[in-house]
Amino acid sequence: MTEFSTWEWIRASGWSAYFLLFISICFGMMQKMGFISKSIGRYLLIAHQTAGWFAFLLAFFHGFLLYFDDYQPFSILEIFIPFQSKYQPIFTGLGIISFYSMFLIFLSTDLLKQVGRNVWKIIHLLILPSFILASLHGFFIGSDTDETWSKIVYASAIFVFLLLNFFRFFAKSKKMFENY
Ligand code: HEM
Repeated sequence: MTEFSTWEWIRASGWSAYFLLFISICFGMMQKMGFISKSIGRYLLIAHQTAGWFAFLLAFFHGFLLYFDDYQPFSILEIFIPFQSKYQPIFTGLGIISFYSMFLIFLSTDLLKQVGRNVWKIIHLLILPSFILASLHGFFIGSDTDETWSKIVYASAIFVFLLLNFFRFFAKSKKMFENY
């Protein structure tokens, strides 16, 4: 049976978290756009929330595994406090900030009544810059970045992300958060 090293699990979970975060953001933005019917919008909303949760869990797993890495082990403080790691502190820090913004979104959704809709919306929109941080993090720190396929994945994800932002914020599509 093929055995995976800790490092391979770190890479696989990093990529999976990135992919799911991308899917969650795309579906979240698309679900209220004018050309999407209400019934499809409902499915997109469920997919948006589910992908977001799994992205968060996998990002946690991805970061936590670094504690067990043989080649470049991280301490718990290095994993959870931005810019404290010996290895690539800036780009690791961007990943940690991106992780915390996902956490804030879930927290504010659970505490929606207490924080109010406006604060919730602002926190929710934090995921947009946070996706750019996650992309910079993966691109500059990842061992796969030298591969052409990896560059194509990052470039395509950013392109689709910017396109959706354009439609969402500048092309007068309906509001993204009307459902809540
Ligand atoms: C606790 C927060 C995080 C820490 C400490 C962390 C740390 C790291 C480290 C050290 C690497 C380099 C691994 C290697 O040698 O390939 C890496 C790669 C990566 N991370 Fe993170 N990360 C965190 C959060 C995130 C988040 C939130 C995402 C995406 C949503 C993410 C996505 C990625 C991706 C795509 C790679 C590239 C994998 C590769 O090319 O091999 N990370 N991360």
